[in-house]
Amino acid sequence: MLKSVYVFDAYGTLFDVNSAARRASAEPDHAALAQKWPEISANWRRKQLEYTWLRAVANRHCDFWQVTQDGLDWALEAAKITSDATRARLLALYRELAAYPEVSLMLDTLKAGGARTAILSNGSPDMLDAAVNSAGLIKKLDAVLSVEDVGVFKPHDKVYDLVGARFACAPEDVLFVSSNGWDAAGAAGYGFTTAWVNRAGDPVDRLYATPNHILNDLTTIPELR
Ligand code: LAC
Repeated sequence: MLKSVYVFDAYGTLFDVNSAARRASAEPDHAALAQKWPEISANWRRKQLEYTWLRAVANRHCDFWQVTQDGLDWALEAAKITSDATRARLLALYRELAAYPEVSLMLDTLKAGGARTAILSNGSPDMLDAAVNSAGLIKKLDAVLSVEDVGVFKPHDKVYDLVGARFACAPEDVLFVSSNGWDAAGAAGYGFTTAWVNRAGDPVDRLYATPNHILNDLTTIPELR
């Protein structure tokens, strides 16, 4: 194993953020989503993240549950969906997102090798607790770290500082894993070794640092050298 501490982004990395809209779209009560859910889900995620960055630069922090609701409201209005029940269902499903299929075994392999494992996420503690419990991951993680402890969103250095504070380790002891290119860049700029999980085959973000590893999924994390 490459490192002693493995730290994962949550939304989009361990948890499939599209699973909420995909699941709701298959339910008879939310048939209006049937054709529109991919665009709604993409807009929801895009706005949610934009709001985190804007609130960070404007020093106007609120928690991730608020920006998750605000992003959804923008996406639903753009799609001309006004159902309160559909909004409520999508938000409920966001608290129990599906984990990607390889997550459980990958974390087990890291733990069996003696590594310490953690989530470091924009998510608020209650959102992360709900997602981790729903996916059955609680026993596979040594820590679930939330930006709420520092009151600013990623990619602020104060967020990445939470790892060293929790594990009493140096940045070079850490492999940081994210599906968000900008988060992998932020963590690489901070000094972590980083793996970018690029499921969509996107171009590398042109930012101030680049990831050390680019992967298709999480399966090979324990094999990285
Ligand atoms: C997170 C977001 C960025 O979990 O996906 O921090």
